[in-house]
Amino acid sequence: RRSLTVRASSEPINPNIKKDVDKVVDTVFPKDLDGKPQAVYCRCWRSATFPLCNGAHVKHNQATGDNVGPLIIKASD
Ligand code: FES
Repeated sequence: RRSLTVRASSEPINPNIKKDVDKVVDTVFPKDLDGKPQAVYCRCWRSATFPLCNGAHVKHNQATGDNVGPLIIKASD
C-alpha cells in the first residue's frame, strides 16, 4: 500500500518564466505531426519555448534527480 506525501515548500517551481505576470496562462494550437494534431507541453518550467517542451527536462532531471516530463496531447484515432 502506497501513501501520497505532499511536501510543502516555500520555493517557487517556476524559476524564470513570465515572472512579470500574476499567473502564467497559455493557449497553444496543436501542430499537425504525422497526420495528427499534436502538442507537447512543458511541465518542468525549464523550457526556453514554454509552454512547449524543448527537452530541457532531461538536463533538469539529471541535475536534480527529478523525474518530470512533458504532457503530450494527441488527437484520437
Ligand atoms: Fe519541460 Fe520538457 S522542457 S517538460
